[in-house]
This record gives sequence, C-alpha cells and structure tokens, in this order.
Amino acid sequence: MGRIKMHFFKITPWKILRFFNFFNKRMSLDSNSWNQRYVSKNTAWDIGYVSTPIKEYIDQLSDKKIKILIPGCGNAHEAEYLFKNGFTNVFLVDFSKKALDNFKSRVKDFPNENLICNDFFKIQGKYDLIIEQTFFCAIDKSKRIEYVNKINSLLESGGKLVGLLFDAPMFDDRPPFGGTSKEYKDFFSPYFKFKTFKPSYNSIKSRNGKELFINLEKK
Ligand SMILES: C[S@@+](CC[C@H](N)C(=O)[O-])C[C@H]1O[C@@H](n2cnc3c(N)ncnc32)[C@H](O)[C@@H]1O
Repeated sequence: MGRIKMHFFKITPWKILRFFNFFNKRMSLDSNSWNQRYVSKNTAWDIGYVSTPIKEYIDQLSDKKIKILIPGCGNAHEAEYLFKNGFTNVFLVDFSKKALDNFKSRVKDFPNENLICNDFFKIQGKYDLIIEQTFFCAIDKSKRIEYVNKINSLLESGGKLVGLLFDAPMFDDRPPFGGTSKEYKDFFSPYFKFKTFKPSYNSIKSRNGKELFINLEKK
C-alpha cells in the first residue's frame, strides 16, 4: 500500500507533460491535424456547396479571366462553382493534401498546376481576387496581422479580398475563432478601401446574423 502511494506522488517527466497538456487543450492547427480531419471526414465547417453570399458575388462578375485565389480552400465548393461557370484562372491553396485530392476527384478537368498544396503564408504570386470562406477564422488569432499582410502582398494593385468573416465571439481555443467588425476594421484599414463591409443579408441559415460580407480593395 505504502509503495502504491509513493508511486502516485512520484513526479515523472510523463506526469509533468500530462499536467501541462491538461491546461493546454488548444486544438492543433498544423497541416497534419487539418489533413487528418479530412481523412476522418471530421469537417463540420464544410457546408457542401458554394455559400449564397459568395455565389451571388460570383454571379455578377463579368470578366471570367481574372486570376482568383481561394486560400484554405478545403473541399473548395466555391472553386467548383467558378470552374463550372467558365472562370479559367482559379487557384486553390490548402496544406491538406486530402482536401485537394477530394476536390480533384470531384472536378476532374481542373488544372493540376492550379492546386497548391502548401502553407498559405509561404506562397507567392499576384491575384486579382482572393475569396475568403472560413479560412481567416481557422487560423490562430495571433496570425491575423500576418494574414492581412499576406493577402495584401498577394493582390495586384486594385485587387480585392471578397468573402465572409464571422462577426461573433465563436471560440477562443479552437476554430472557428471569432471577432468583431471593429477589430477587423483596424486590421484591414491601413491597406484596403472598404467597398462593402456589412452584415451579410444572405448568409446560409446556420450562420445567419453572424457573418460580415466584405469586399475590400487594395489601396
Ligand atoms: C475551416 S476549414 C475551411 C475550408 C473551406 N474554406 C470551407 O469553407 O469548407 C480551414 C481550411 O484551411 C486550411 N488551412 C489552415 N491553415 C492553413 C495554412 N496555413 N495554409 C494552408 N491551408 C491552411 C485547412 O487545411 C482547412 O482546409
């Protein structure tokens, strides 16, 4: 009995690790963890089709040759919609290979060279339009300024960032990380003109009242 008690109180490196893990339950946001979510089909964020606000924005675009990037594209329903509607210059980036494989198996004619399996923060290039759909809310809050700088560097002058941001607290320890329109304004205003920045009127039902529709033009 005495020996069992002694063992319980003995401090081992394993116990120290477990102690800190207990207080550090933040979800892992690295490429392996995201990829694993696609492998195990643990993809609650995926609505299964292009969201209405983004679809309606795409529907009024007339130039189908503009160079478009979708970062953190996941299963990329927006890209499927763009491609099937004649947009010829669409690029996708996600560091989950499985997400890009899923897209490839659905949209077989999509050019392979436009599928970029990499960390968004490491890619180069220039785009006319970047579409935001639940990528900003998936990255750690500490990387938001880096996101804004990266988007700015990837846009041509006059290029646009268009899409949706959660204007609601959401979660602090896992995606979707939330925020407020005031906070976002402070991040984006040094680099962008705000063409549209208001509550989305046509969000999907489950996100109704929680999203901002943004159309920001690079200064
Ligand atoms: C919440 S999911 C959204 C996926 C898709 N936009 C959608 O709405 O279904 C976030 C996506 O971003 C990807 N991602 C997260 N951080 C990334 C990074 N630094 N570089 C590239 N992709 C990233 C994940 O693999 C995941 O597919």
